[in-house]
Amino acid sequence: MLYTEKVMDHFRNPRNVGEIENADGVGEVGNAKCGDIMKMYLKIEDNIITDVKFETFGCGSAIATSSMATELIKGKSVDEALNLTNQAVVEALDGLPNHKIHCSVLAEEAVRAAIKDYYDKNHIDYDPDKFCNGDCCGCHANEH
Ligand code: FES
Repeated sequence: MLYTEKVMDHFRNPRNVGEIENADGVGEVGNAKCGDIMKMYLKIEDNIITDVKFETFGCGSAIATSSMATELIKGKSVDEALNLTNQAVVEALDGLPNHKIHCSVLAEEAVRAAIKDYYDKNHIDYDPDKFCNGDCCGCHANEH
């Protein structure tokens, strides 16, 4: 089978879809190659992600991975969310076909971009190396 049951489940019933008004951090990233875009909203209180929502113009795998990513970071600390890798999201979904791995990168990058926005808005210092430059095709070139 091409897609696991978990992927199909999160694709058909994506969790945490929508927008958060007055979000503490908003991240929008795009994949230059396929043109898909992902927007992630975070509500953060005392360094904990209390709510998260996403919107995407993306493929089914982008929807499933973002949905899973929101589930994985909800209730976690900002630092834990920052360490979320697309690999962890793919594992939580019991795998993705190889040619769809790049879609999961979009979810990871959207989370990162939203946290960066939160840091910037609150003048919190961070290590810039922790954040990609938003050029997904540049920094994950080998995955396309
Ligand atoms: Fe673009 Fe999946 S094909 S994110």
